[in-house]
Amino acid sequence: MQVQWYPGHMTKAKRAMKEDMKLVDLVVEILDARAPLSSRNPDIDELSGNKARLVLLNKADLADAKANKIWEQYFLEQGCITARVDARKRSDMKPVQNAVREACREKTERDRKRGIKNRPVRAMVVGIPNVGKSTFINSFAGRACAKTGNRPGVTRGNQWIRLSKEVELLDTPGILWPKFEDEQVGIKLALLGSVKDEILGMEELSLELLGRLEERYPETLELRYQLTEAERKEGPVHMLTEIARFRNCVLKGNELDLEKAARLVIDDFRSGRLGAITLELPDQEQG
Ligand code: G4P
Repeated sequence: MQVQWYPGHMTKAKRAMKEDMKLVDLVVEILDARAPLSSRNPDIDELSGNKARLVLLNKADLADAKANKIWEQYFLEQGCITARVDARKRSDMKPVQNAVREACREKTERDRKRGIKNRPVRAMVVGIPNVGKSTFINSFAGRACAKTGNRPGVTRGNQWIRLSKEVELLDTPGILWPKFEDEQVGIKLALLGSVKDEILGMEELSLELLGRLEERYPETLELRYQLTEAERKEGPVHMLTEIARFRNCVLKGNELDLEKAARLVIDDFRSGRLGAITLELPDQEQG
């Protein structure tokens, strides 16, 4: 399976983002906690230069709690200020506020030494599609936010949202495109819904997922689809067939509808109905 997809317009977007970067003090990089490295854009280091950076492990509610801790530790060891969040929850924003403060400590200190007090931190949210950028901005800004109006130099009608005395947020998130030469990364991103489903096809995607679940979360297959160990050991194609049977996915003439079963499995995964699942760990061979 080959996944190669880097839309031309992303090159333009990357250029625009480089411009916007000049306006901010802090880059809030949003990753998907279920596959933090695969959902990270490798250009981000170059794009954000020496700006303060905060890494958010979003959709932590859908990821394995044990794995979340391991990933948090991993990013801390890389020197990143980090927090895990469910961007839909307002209550998860308080730790983010603290993390923002921590990430910007040097800048605040510099300002203070120059006699500048209370200049808000200007922040920008970046991440690949579907990672939760807009959801995060809405929760973080809340209802109390007020737009501050256009400023010179801010392109494309971008506006700043004044969040508090401390933070101003660029209201349009920066969309990054994942770069995946590695096909395993492509598969994981497709599972997360960050690349179009059609690129890989539902059936193939579901087989990839079933294989991974059997390896790391066999109990979920038993629980959700009543797949016995013997059935699981027969491999993903057999599992999908059994799921189609179990869930009554049939076409005219009683033929099993594997495409429908595949969609069902993927939807179950994406919505969290399969439980909290993480697709990769730091020192694991990617796969
Ligand atoms: P984007 O701007 O980065 O493209 O992502 P966006 O905020 O649109 O979020 C993509 C989907 O992920 C949305 O669901 C959103 O509700 C969901 N989401 C975002 N953050 C979290 C999180 O921390 N946990 C969970 N469980 N879901 C999250 P959707 O189905 O596309 O839309 P909706 O029906 O929920 O509105």
